[in-house]
Amino acid sequence: MTHKLAVLPGDGIGPDIVREACKVLEVLRADFGLDVAWEEAPVGGTAYDQTGHPLPDTTLELAKSADAVLLGAVGGPQWDNLDYTLRPERVALLGLRKELDLFANLRPAKVFPELVDASALRPEVAEGIDIMVVRELTSGIYFGEPRGVEELPDGRRKGLNSLVYTSDEIERIARVAFEIARKRSGRVCSVDKANVLEVSQLWRDVVSHVGQREFPDVELSHMYVDNAAMQLVRDPKQFDVMVTTNMFGDILSDEASMLTGSIGLLPSASLSAEGAGMYEPIHGSAPDIAGIGKANPLATILSTAMMLRYSLDEIELADRIERAVGQVLADGLRTPDIAGEGERAIGTAEMGDAVVAALRG
Ligand code: NAD
Ligand code: IPM
Ligand code: MN
Repeated sequence: MTHKLAVLPGDGIGPDIVREACKVLEVLRADFGLDVAWEEAPVGGTAYDQTGHPLPDTTLELAKSADAVLLGAVGGPQWDNLDYTLRPERVALLGLRKELDLFANLRPAKVFPELVDASALRPEVAEGIDIMVVRELTSGIYFGEPRGVEELPDGRRKGLNSLVYTSDEIERIARVAFEIARKRSGRVCSVDKANVLEVSQLWRDVVSHVGQREFPDVELSHMYVDNAAMQLVRDPKQFDVMVTTNMFGDILSDEASMLTGSIGLLPSASLSAEGAGMYEPIHGSAPDIAGIGKANPLATILSTAMMLRYSLDEIELADRIERAVGQVLADGLRTPDIAGEGERAIGTAEMGDAVVAALRG
């Protein structure tokens, strides 16, 4: 049966990088027998400009009816002053995540051997890093109520967001992390701020309980988020699977990306319990380099590999994409974000073409 994809390029570098991922899909279709078809739809600021809404109903319906969604990025300075009810990040991105119930966000940070020198860390610290950040994606402070800014009687204003988790939300993300750890080195580190926050103590208790009751074979440790941020840089190889809340996961995954060389390399999968999946690079719309061929498309291409692995059950083709990316890096091809001092850099499209060529062999 044909795999039906929704492709949502979005804003800034979104179209630049998604174009390259589609080249890869096209080769898999034409040369490797992947039975796939995709439809593009507007999302984010681009959709707001076209339709007055960052997540038009037609785009949401397409995403809901697809077997998987591939997304570029949304947001940009021209939409920063919109009300929160219309901001691309909040309405389109958080809207898609919530509507599709994509509570489990997998963000693997793995150092390609060829790129050890591009890491922000010393080669001996960077070599062999292989971390899976499991980020809760549909709750926490991003969605908690009450929220907003209100006028106080004395004329001051009060801004408020709420960090809320219920035990069932913690249980389901914990299970995802434990299951993944079973297929890796069998270790989970849960990251929280239980020394200060009640909700974090609940998080810790529930994760421990799920671990003891259902995953006694997995080794569980707990770490405060400030220490985790430090340990990621000091000794990243101590981590295998990290599980954490929506906002801590957002921050720690950007940090982890620099251990691998660039934020332009880190893919992600956002999954629901019912089998929905959205795939996107962890980076944003990078307005500073949009449309000028400087964006690294590899995070999006690797997100496409995750899509084949997790949503389409095309494991062999996912492996092929990852091997092709490794090949291109081994050949010394570098976009500006991962090129060393004085090293020649290639553009977004050339990088996509190189992956396509490596796939064709
Ligand atoms: P960003 O990730 O867009 O950019 C941060 C820095 O990394 C910039 O210097 C950028 O040039 C660089 N960068 C990012 N992706 C790159 C790539 N593929 N290749 C090379 N360099 C890359 O974060 P930001 O600047 O904080 O945010 C810009 C906009 O994107 C904002 O509107 C923000 O809200 C939005 N955003 C969207 C998403 C998303 O759609 N998933 C994620 C993060 C930020
Ligand atoms: C990400 C982004 C989003 C997030 C923003 C743009 C809403 O930073 O996907 O990491 O914080 O989840
Ligand atoms: Mn982020």
